[in-house]
Amino acid sequence: MAESNIALIRRPDDMVRITTPELAEAFIRDQIHSIQNQVGDKKVLLALSGGVDSSVVAALLIRAVGQQLVCVHVNHGLLRKGEPEQVIEVFRNQMNANLIYVDAVDRFLDKLAGVTDPEQKRHIIGNEFIEVFADEARKLDGVEFLAQGTIWPDILESENGIKAHHNAGGLPEDLQFELVEPVRILFKDEVRVVGKALGLPDSMVYRQPFPGPGLGVRCPGAITRDRLEAVRESDAILREEFEKAGLAGRVWQYFTVVPDFKSTGIRDGKRTFEWPCIIRAINTTDVIEVSVEHLSPELIERLARRITSEVPGINRVLYDFTPKPPATVEYE
Ligand code: XMP
Repeated sequence: MAESNIALIRRPDDMVRITTPELAEAFIRDQIHSIQNQVGDKKVLLALSGGVDSSVVAALLIRAVGQQLVCVHVNHGLLRKGEPEQVIEVFRNQMNANLIYVDAVDRFLDKLAGVTDPEQKRHIIGNEFIEVFADEARKLDGVEFLAQGTIWPDILESENGIKAHHNAGGLPEDLQFELVEPVRILFKDEVRVVGKALGLPDSMVYRQPFPGPGLGVRCPGAITRDRLEAVRESDAILREEFEKAGLAGRVWQYFTVVPDFKSTGIRDGKRTFEWPCIIRAINTTDVIEVSVEHLSPELIERLARRITSEVPGINRVLYDFTPKPPATVEYE
């Protein structure tokens, strides 16, 4: 691949934290300038997941190179309920972006079938992403760049060997894309300030983060379609209840995990043998240290009642009280 100098750019030790619109504007001006210098009149492909990072990257690139940006939204089957539809609505219909939607659900889930190792799962998802982009790129003329929403903690954690982040890795040798990573040196809170300054809607800027490997890391062990569906449905219920309780936007990140073991329960007088659903709700500013949100007992009880009665295959609901460290936010 054509290795970019961009890949070597590091956050300066004395860089002022971006907390104000003025600092964000200065950052945006700099980035637009360097994106235009880097890209020229060529096309850029962007992995647009719909999360904060890739949305901010999209907005920066639209400002810098307009229709030269080709956004690719890959539905890998590991997205939250309603998410692919929302990405199409916001970016294609409202922001008029050049957006290609790829339904790759079977392709990803077939590759992941039977794979239990977390790092192997991440690598499969990451590599498959690159392959999907390559397929799309081959259909286009003049694409030389691949934009990514890599942020600074991704780089640090990859360097420290804590976790392989698919978006901090290199491209395979046979691909000739150069990386464009305009938010690479930013912490998550800074990405939001920049997004706000770019005029993105609050619903996007303050959306909780969602990992690249999606619900795949919340379905620990080998992913099966039924357990994945249990993660997706329980996540949708959690988000609905947080919205109703006024917690959405106030709690930094919240989601459900459905581990790969079963326990005994009882429903309608009959024995059940089903999965538990674990709820995680956390607060942080830099994702390096994370504390647990204390939910009211009433909310936890309501969640337990709804999830066990509405989500097939779940007979218990548990709450994770562990901060980071010693736990990480995600389970894999
Ligand atoms: P961890 O589990 O490392 O998560 O404590 C810290 C934050 O990063 C998100 N996360 C990811 N984001 N690609 C991403 O873009 C990934 O592979 C990835 N893994 C974790 C996680 O959701 C949390 O907000």
